[in-house]
Amino acid sequence: MTDLATRAPATPTLDVAAIRADFPILSRQVHGRPLVYLDNAATSQTPRQVIAAFDAYYGGYNANIHRGLHTLADEATAAFEGTRETVRGFLNAAETRELIFTRGTTEAINLVANSWGRANLKAGDEVLISRLEHHSNIVPWQLLAAELGFTIKVIPVDERGVLDLDAYRALFTERTRLVAVNHVSNAFGTINPVKAMATIAHAHGALILVDGAQATPHQAVDVRDIDADFYAFSGHKVYGPTGVGVLYGKADLLEAMPPWQGGGEMIATVSFEAGTTFAELPHKFEAGTPAIAEVIALGEALKWVAGVGLDAIGAWEGRLLAHATERVSTIDGLRILGTAPDKAGVLSFVVDGAHAQDIGLLIDQLGVAIRTGHHCAQPLLAHFGVDATCRASFAAYNTLEEIDVFAEALERVIGMVR
Ligand code: ALA
Repeated sequence: MTDLATRAPATPTLDVAAIRADFPILSRQVHGRPLVYLDNAATSQTPRQVIAAFDAYYGGYNANIHRGLHTLADEATAAFEGTRETVRGFLNAAETRELIFTRGTTEAINLVANSWGRANLKAGDEVLISRLEHHSNIVPWQLLAAELGFTIKVIPVDERGVLDLDAYRALFTERTRLVAVNHVSNAFGTINPVKAMATIAHAHGALILVDGAQATPHQAVDVRDIDADFYAFSGHKVYGPTGVGVLYGKADLLEAMPPWQGGGEMIATVSFEAGTTFAELPHKFEAGTPAIAEVIALGEALKWVAGVGLDAIGAWEGRLLAHATERVSTIDGLRILGTAPDKAGVLSFVVDGAHAQDIGLLIDQLGVAIRTGHHCAQPLLAHFGVDATCRASFAAYNTLEEIDVFAEALERVIGMVR
C-alpha cells in the first residue's frame, strides 16, 4: 500500500454518486457491459457542465474574440478572458498575463523550448530532464539540442520509480540552465518533489519547467509556492476538452521571451516599412484565432473541479489506488511498476506470460478501459526492461466496485491468455 492509502481519510468527503450523475458517458455500455473507465491518465471524461458550455457558445454567442465591437464578440471575449481568471485562481498565479492558452501541455513545452530555449541556450549549456518524462518533455529538448548543441542530462530514478535527488543535485554545473520535469509521472504515478527541485535549480541559477499534465487533475497546484518558472497543463486531463491547455510563466521571463508563432492577435503594429511590434502579454504568445469554445469550456471544467474539491478528489483516488493495489497484488506473476511512496492514482503493471496488449484488448471485451503500451515514456519503460505495461488510472467518478470489476476481469483475462 502507498502513503496515499494511509493519508486517505476513512470516510472521504466525496459524493461519488452525485459526481457520476454529471458524466453522461458513464451510463453507456461497452460490449454489453457497463463501462468501467480506468484510462483517465490518457484523458478524463467530461461533465455535462463542460459539454453545455459548447452548446451555450455555439448556440448563443459564437464570435471571434478581441476583434469585434459587436455584442457577440464582447460576450465571447468576456467568457474567454473569464477562463484566464479562473485559471489564475486554479494555479494561484499572480497575474492573468502570466497565463498563455495553448493546444495542450505539449504545445506549452514546445513554446518554452522554441521561445525561451532558442533565445537562451547555446552549445555547452546543459538541460536536466528526468527519466520519468513523457516524450512531450523529452523530444522538444532533443530537437533543440540537435540544432543548438546543448547537452541533455538525465535525472535517474530508483527501482521504485522515485527520482534520485542526490543524483539530481550532483548533475548541476555552472552550465546548467534549465530543469524540465513532470510533477506527476503519467506512466508510474510518481509525485515528484518539484518545490524542492525548484529550490535546488534556483540555487544553481537554473530555471525549472514543470509538466503538470498529470498533477492538476489530482492535487491543488500553487505555482508561486512551488516557485515554478514555467508550469504547463492540459484541459482534457482535468475534466475539460481536448485541444486546449495552459502555459504559466513568470511575467518577467515571458516579457523577455520572443514570440514563437506569428500571426493575428499577437501584434501591436505591422508595417512593411517599419516592421512589426508585438502585443503585450499574454497575447504576444497567442497568434491566430484560439480554441475559443474549448477555452470557455475549460473554465467550466476548472469550476467543476473546484466545486468538488481537489483535496477530496486526491483522497478518494488514494483510496481507489490502495484498493486496486491490494486487489491486483494477489494475482500470480503480476508485477507493479512504480511503487513510489508518494503516488497519484496510477497503477502500472506487467504480468508474466501475458502481453500487455493482449490484456488490454481482452479486458475491453469485458467493458473495462485501461491503457496498454509505452505511455509515451519509452526511456522509462526501457530502464525497467519492458516495452509495455498495462495502466489503470483513476478519477473522481470511479468507485471501489469498479475496481473489483476490473480486478475480476483482469484475473479472467490473464487466465485466458496464459
Ligand atoms: N499522456 C497521455 C497518457 O499518459 C496520453 O496516456
